[in-house]
Amino acid sequence: MPLKERVLAVLEENKGKSVSGSEIAKSVGMTRSAVWKAVKLLREEGYSICAVTNRGYCLSEENDFLSEQAIVPNLRTKEIGRKIDVFKTIDSTNSFAKSLAQLGAAHGTTVISEVQTQGKGRMGRQFYSPLGMGIYMSVIVRPKLSVEQSLLITSCAAVAVADAIEKVAGIDCKIKWVNDIYAGNKKLCGILTEASVDVEQGGLEYAIVGIGLNVQNINFPKNIADIATSIKLETDRNVSRSVLAAEILNCLEERFSNITDKAFIDDYRSRSNIIGKRIDVSQGDRISTVTCIGIDECGRLLVRLDNGEEKALSSGTVRLSGEGVQQ
Ligand code: BTN
Repeated sequence: MPLKERVLAVLEENKGKSVSGSEIAKSVGMTRSAVWKAVKLLREEGYSICAVTNRGYCLSEENDFLSEQAIVPNLRTKEIGRKIDVFKTIDSTNSFAKSLAQLGAAHGTTVISEVQTQGKGRMGRQFYSPLGMGIYMSVIVRPKLSVEQSLLITSCAAVAVADAIEKVAGIDCKIKWVNDIYAGNKKLCGILTEASVDVEQGGLEYAIVGIGLNVQNINFPKNIADIATSIKLETDRNVSRSVLAAEILNCLEERFSNITDKAFIDDYRSRSNIIGKRIDVSQGDRISTVTCIGIDECGRLLVRLDNGEEKALSSGTVRLSGEGVQQ
């Protein structure tokens, strides 16, 4: 690891506390003047590091840059997030993760960025991904699943992300089938899963789980201002994006480790904000208003039509009947 990153790792480990130049120098195996140069470079990148005479350097608690050095110490995983690429800017973390997966990147490989210039949402929509505000992260997963079982990936990821947000920020998160995470009646996070099938074996080859979570935003563009929210708006707290990203990775590993025993489905159901409600389902050009009666063991949405007929849906977009546009 280059010197600057090693110094950052020590500062992140001691965030909010002063560490002397000689202590840092000793732990990274460099001279104090090399440490000073690394601190200068980090400051040029925007890190707020104060130097106090006789006490050393202190990385301010307010620093909320995403970095491997800030994420990895908070991981409890074996595989997920252990190989992580952190970008300052990228078009889409999902697109980049897909190219890594095609080159054979391992299960758990993660891509995260401070901003996305072409963040992708479901149904060809754009995902609003402004600089330094959110967690825009894609994880390559390679669970042994049949094509039919692949729907479980998105619902399993939604439960994991909701668990992590609740743990770190204390928000009671709800899930709107199939993959939107809500705080109250506003969307906090969207998940876009893109999968590739192994044609010869007939199973899933890999899936990219793309997570877009609004964290520090205090306002949104007009078209989504009424329907989007952020962790900052919900809690008035500055939650560290790196700590939260790491917890999402921890929860993903925990939930994915037993994806096929479907234990998570009960948690998914209890987080659902549409069971028992009237919903509008869009499938292609068709929109129909139905009653949501549950989620089945395969993650499909169970609905009752107004003529009494019951159906299990595995695709489509839903919204509470009468709700506005989607983010
Ligand atoms: C949706 O709400 O429609 C899904 C949004 C998914 C957005 C995330 S941000 C990280 C990853 N990269 C992308 O381009 N999209 C997903």
